[in-house]
Order: sequence, then C-alpha cells, then structure tokens
Amino acid sequence: MKRLSEMEAYIPGEQPQDKTYVKLNTNESPFPPAPEVVRVLSQQEIEKCNLYSDPTVSSLNRAIADFYDISPDRVFVGNGSDEVLAFSFQAFGDLSHPMFFPDITYGCYRVFAELYNIPFTKIPLDDSLAIRVEDYQNVQGTVVIANPNAQTGTYLSLDSIANLVQQNQDRLVIVDEAYIDFGGESCIRLTDQFDNLLVVQTFSKSRNLAGARVGFAVGNRNLIQDLYQIKYSFNPYNINRLSMLAAKAAIEDRAYFDSCRLHIIQNREWTREQLETMGFTLTKSKANFLLAACSRISGEELYRNLKSRGVLIRYFPDARIQNYIRITIGSAEQMQILIQNIKDILGGL
Ligand SMILES: Cc1ncc(COP(=O)(O)O)c(C=O)c1O
Repeated sequence: MKRLSEMEAYIPGEQPQDKTYVKLNTNESPFPPAPEVVRVLSQQEIEKCNLYSDPTVSSLNRAIADFYDISPDRVFVGNGSDEVLAFSFQAFGDLSHPMFFPDITYGCYRVFAELYNIPFTKIPLDDSLAIRVEDYQNVQGTVVIANPNAQTGTYLSLDSIANLVQQNQDRLVIVDEAYIDFGGESCIRLTDQFDNLLVVQTFSKSRNLAGARVGFAVGNRNLIQDLYQIKYSFNPYNINRLSMLAAKAAIEDRAYFDSCRLHIIQNREWTREQLETMGFTLTKSKANFLLAACSRISGEELYRNLKSRGVLIRYFPDARIQNYIRITIGSAEQMQILIQNIKDILGGL
C-alpha cells in the first residue's frame, strides 16, 4: 500500500539479542519485577493459557483502582501504554479534533496521528527544552503531553496541568505519565474533577515490567467507555493471562515499588553531578533518564564509542537534540561503569 510505504513508522531503541550490554538505552528498570510477580507466575497459571484471558481485565483493574483510590470503571488497561495511546488517538482525534503535541516528545504521537489520518501540530519546546504550558492555551483540538516529557525529562507541576485542563473544558487533554514516579506528582486525582483529562501510565518503567506489556488510562467513565469500544472492535483479549497476574502483583507491592524508584532517583542525581563535573549540559530531568550534551563530542560519536565498549545509550537525529545523548538510569554499578567509560573517552580526545 502506497500510504503505508510512504509512512515513517516508529523506530524502537535497539534490543540487541547477540551480546549483553550495560543497557541504558530504552528507559527500562534495571531491577527485576517484584518478588511476588515471579511467585504468581506458577506452572499452574501457565497451564491455564489454553483458555482466553478475562476481556474485562477485572482483577487488575481493581488493583489499579485501589492503588489510586478511584472506581474501577474509570480505569482502562492496554497492552503497554503504546496500545492505550494508540486507542486514545483513534478515539479522540479526527479531522475536527486535530492533535497538538511538543516538537520534541515521544515519537509514537506523530506516528499514531499519521496512521489514523489525524491532522497534528508540533508545538516547539522553549530554549531550555521545556514545555511552555501557555503555548497550549488557545489550541483548538486534543492536547497530548508527556509529563515528564520524553527525551527531555522536563516536568510540569500539578498546578500547570490543572490550569491547562481548566482553561478549556471542551477540549481533551491527554497526559502521558510514563515517567511520573521518578519525582513528579501524578495528575490522576484531577480526573475526579475534570471530565476532559485522560491520564495514561505504564508498568514498563517504575514497575519493572517492560516485557509484560501493560499500561493503563484513568479518566471519566465516558472516555473509558470510548476506549473499550475501540478495544472490543480490535482485540478483546488484549491483556494475556500472565501479564495480568504479573501487573496485579507488581502494583500490590508498594514497598518494592517505592524502593526501586527511590534508587533510580538517587542514581540519577549522582549521574547528573558526575556529568556536570565533566562539563555536560543537562535538561532538568525528573524521569528515569538524563538528556546530556558535551561540547567536545557529538551525541552520535559518544554513542558509537560507548557501544564499542559495551555500554548502550541512545541519541536522536532531531536537529534540536542531536548533540545530546539520552542515558537511562540503571543500577549504581551500571552508572559507575558508564561514567568511567565517558571519562576514558573524553580523556582520549
Ligand atoms: C512517554 C512515553 N510514553 C509511552 C511509552 C510506551 O511505553 P509502554 O508501551 O512500554 O507502556 C514510552 C516508552 O518509552 C514513553 O517514553
């Protein structure tokens, strides 16, 4: 199909299968899933895979609702937040509801808009690579914001999000909180008050389950019903049995969740200090990654050099951030290896 061959699909970060890297390129957690996750995936449960999974995802829905103290019918669970976002674009974007999102953000927003023929406008980040919420005040259409933003990690306060949502209650605002648990404050509680807010989260980052593919949305019942309409018209059993059990066990272990995310925050701040000491410029990231640039070496060169030393990070070709590298925050040991390698590379220039 010409339309598809001309489309620029999303290019996922490398997932090398050949050798083991210090893998700091796709914002996964360095920590294993919560201990209970492993326990619930018993042989008995695996043997039940001859039967379809629960299309209503009721037990996981309830566990998510309990965590956020909301009613389960305000939760929608998808196969990764990518699926939740794709359904949201399908549901809430069309010719009369164009989409507005930042010029530097999660690459799937553009891809979904093109896939579903939704007109879209990219709104430039400011010079410090942060979202200026005022720029979205008068836009007529659906606003999509990642908070903290993808690639830059910059964060908007709860008050800023509340202002944006309040300004025009006829307009939907989708807030993608994939990275919210690393120091930000979720706007999920604003969904009690505002019907035009849909919040999307994932189990891939702070809940250590990227490979299980589970994400969810929280919003008013009508928005959630719209997402169900799309799911039941596309893939009714979108969450498999094992992922459902794994995600439920993960969200129920609050102590493990807190301990993992606090470690990431500590490791991020240590890494930031080390990079700043070496002369890097960094955005104000509140995510599980840092975006950093060094005037002595291009992002691409540093990426290649680190890869040859067994450390995988990411760089982006977008003109505004092409001098930067994006480093996922891993364990303390992984960050020490990264910093030592960067020191060696810069020392050899
Ligand atoms: C901002 C943002 N949203 C959503 C996703 C998708 O996450 P997943 O589909 O693993 O839930 C990512 C992945 O990196 C992301 O950066």
